[in-house]
Amino acid sequence: MSGGADQRTVLLCVTGCIAAYKSCEILRLLQKQGYRVKVLMTEHATRFVGPTTFRALTHEKVAIGLFDDPEDPIHHISLAREADAVLVAPATANIIAKMANGIADDLMSTTLLATDAPVFVAPAMNAGMLHAAATQENLERLRQRGVTLIAPGTGYLACGTVDAGRLEEPHIIAQTVLDALEATDELSGLHVLVTAGPTHEPIDPVRYIANRSSGKMGYAIAREARRMGAQVTLVSGPTELRAPAGVELVSVETAAEMHEAAIHAFHGADIAICAAAVADYTPVHVASHKLKKRDGRLDAIQLAETTDILAALSSRKEDRVVVGFAAETNDLIDNARAKLASKGCDAIVANDVSREDSGFGTDTNKAWWLDADGTVELPVMEKRELAHEILHRAGTRARKDFTRS
Ligand code: CTP
Repeated sequence: MSGGADQRTVLLCVTGCIAAYKSCEILRLLQKQGYRVKVLMTEHATRFVGPTTFRALTHEKVAIGLFDDPEDPIHHISLAREADAVLVAPATANIIAKMANGIADDLMSTTLLATDAPVFVAPAMNAGMLHAAATQENLERLRQRGVTLIAPGTGYLACGTVDAGRLEEPHIIAQTVLDALEATDELSGLHVLVTAGPTHEPIDPVRYIANRSSGKMGYAIAREARRMGAQVTLVSGPTELRAPAGVELVSVETAAEMHEAAIHAFHGADIAICAAAVADYTPVHVASHKLKKRDGRLDAIQLAETTDILAALSSRKEDRVVVGFAAETNDLIDNARAKLASKGCDAIVANDVSREDSGFGTDTNKAWWLDADGTVELPVMEKRELAHEILHRAGTRARKDFTRS
């Protein structure tokens, strides 16, 4: 399965770590998107996964030793040149240290020093090694040199502890590389603010009012905006999701915190997309101690309305473009049009959250785009595709507004 003339190549560098078996999955995910994957392993990596496995998956020779290929006397240079992107996954503390210091003493480290392709590093190691000052300094040096770090998550480690240092999920690693390889400049020069996720409104120290928003739509918008070349600030309520690479994440809990963070980020923004499911009401009094059960009844919880963030941004938008969402279960278009008018934004994306293929927690959405020009029905699509559609429309409008002002 050697690459065709126009097939792009990812050089996958596998180092000696127990997570090396996950590289097979990353490789597959990249291949599925039409990329040629060439594998380069350290000697230590071959102790964890046999080169035969990678050879079978790629139908190509696996590069290991500096002098292994008699037909190619400068193997590290040809590997470095043929790569459109280089991904080190898993990356041990050792390869990270070599990269940071320009050490070139085997095929992988010499190739990494020689390449001018974009480099992605997904570390995986014991938490102590990860937190060591040397590793942190090395990672910071790589980051400053433009290497994209795919931060390790927290989870069960081979050393038997649950801690930081676990290789990021293969699909997130593959997606980060693909997003960079498929980047466009449609939104370059624009700063996009996205609100996402639910908010948590505290009742007492252990309880809160929330909703079923997963944050998937907002995170998909943030990621897509980044892929389209925008600078992105993601103001997010509590979710299970990781912030996409290259996106500035501002984590908040309550509607009041989200309001403050959004207003602050809006100063430098050109486009705001309000995808958060902000609580409309918040408890007036937050108990300082956990509320106790009393006589089988609960006193009423008094609620006060929260600030409408979308309306607040719209009221100060000037030449910026503000887009809101309308999550509806009935009278979708009428309700969405009423929201467009009452909130004063440029457009509303209406979605029918009563459908199984749309709304909370799903990967697809059925939506309509409403603005002053009319209503456009969009087909059921992946949240990512919908994100693209929304950003394309908002971006076109933002550029038009710029040329007018
Ligand atoms: N929104 C907001 N701040 C709030 C409430 C809503 O920014 N305090 C935004 C949401 O992010 C979304 C839009 O307003 O972009 C519509 O949210 P939705 O929950 O559908 O509507 P509500 O305004 O809350 O009205 P209702 O609950 O009556 O449908």
